Amino acid sequence: MKPLKIGKNIYNVGVKDWNIRDFHGYSVYQGTTYNAFLIVDEKITLIDTVKSEFADQLLDNIAKIIDPKKIDYVISNHTEMDHSGSLPRLMHKIGEDKPLYCSKMGCKNLSLHFSQKWNYKAVENGEELSLGKRTLTFLETRMLHWPDSMFSYLKEDKILFSSDAFGQHYAGPENFDDEIGAAIMPHARKYFANILLPMAPLILKLLEKVNELGLEIDTICPDHGIVWRKDPSKIINTYLDWSSQEPQKKAVVVYDTMWHSTQAMAEAIAAGISEEGVSAKPIHIRSSHRSEIMTEVMDARGIIIGSPTINNGLFPTVSDLLTYMKGLKPKNKIGAAFGSYGWSGESVKLINLELEAMKFEVIDPGLKIQFVPDKESLAACIEFGKKIGKSIME
Ligand code: FEO
Repeated sequence: MKPLKIGKNIYNVGVKDWNIRDFHGYSVYQGTTYNAFLIVDEKITLIDTVKSEFADQLLDNIAKIIDPKKIDYVISNHTEMDHSGSLPRLMHKIGEDKPLYCSKMGCKNLSLHFSQKWNYKAVENGEELSLGKRTLTFLETRMLHWPDSMFSYLKEDKILFSSDAFGQHYAGPENFDDEIGAAIMPHARKYFANILLPMAPLILKLLEKVNELGLEIDTICPDHGIVWRKDPSKIINTYLDWSSQEPQKKAVVVYDTMWHSTQAMAEAIAAGISEEGVSAKPIHIRSSHRSEIMTEVMDARGIIIGSPTINNGLFPTVSDLLTYMKGLKPKNKIGAAFGSYGWSGESVKLINLELEAMKFEVIDPGLKIQFVPDKESLAACIEFGKKIGKSIME
């Protein structure tokens, strides 16, 4: 992408990755961007870099504004390689002795990624760095979402460089919130559900702290997706809402199936839940990416999981989803299990163990049906769904 003006002498020199579809297991159907920001002041400063394969593009973008060798300071807000991968090329180009500012954990983690003796400058929470006419303040955001993560705040321009926070995996012709409007929110939501959800309690604390500090924020520049310049409070308030994990009157009935029996159960259970006035839908795991499923899980109160029994265990895709879900630590859920089986029927018990491990309130021992559900069995599924629906409405 062409360097994009963010403010007076401030540019996004990052790149758009149009073709990526899998971001370490997260489906990115519309690509993503790796944003990097150049501040041209008395001290020319670059905040973050891009994935290593885009290093040439980053350097070209910088060169359209200034000679990259003129960069004085580099800031690394986050070590993950989508933002640090081009550091070796960049530092080689601009001079290995140029100061590289990062958090204390950033210094440690960068040195564990790159065997380079760079001129690391560890910064403390609240520490300021003068760029000449402007000042950057560093805010430690440990575990949001890595131990090294931090924000950088440009006081005079009221710009928050927020690293992964407030980002979205989206590459399009638009670059700002006012250009894309509400269409960006599903991307921001999916990003939150799949990356930031486990850190929701920390996000609440951080936003409280930002409020206490009285930071005025006119623009938020995340490292992925569009820049929030029209109404940054919209995404901040939405983060407050998502972080509170207040569930909706909604259930997801997530299942896999071998011969359509567990599918028939899922559809009948979802119908039963809906009869109680709760929004419910069956989701077939192999027809939906796990990251799409998690986006639905985020605000649902009821998480109902179905699996056939195969070789005395769970269907592998169900295990995959449960492992993924457990890592994202969703809260305030009720859960229940179901499944068709042939002769041993362990799946319901195994799902219940996973639901309990996630601290879901398991509201029923679960429903299992041998081989193909008949009319009576389907009626039992509807009753099971109604019980779940009633619990959600309580
Ligand atoms: Fe976009 Fe945690 O990296």
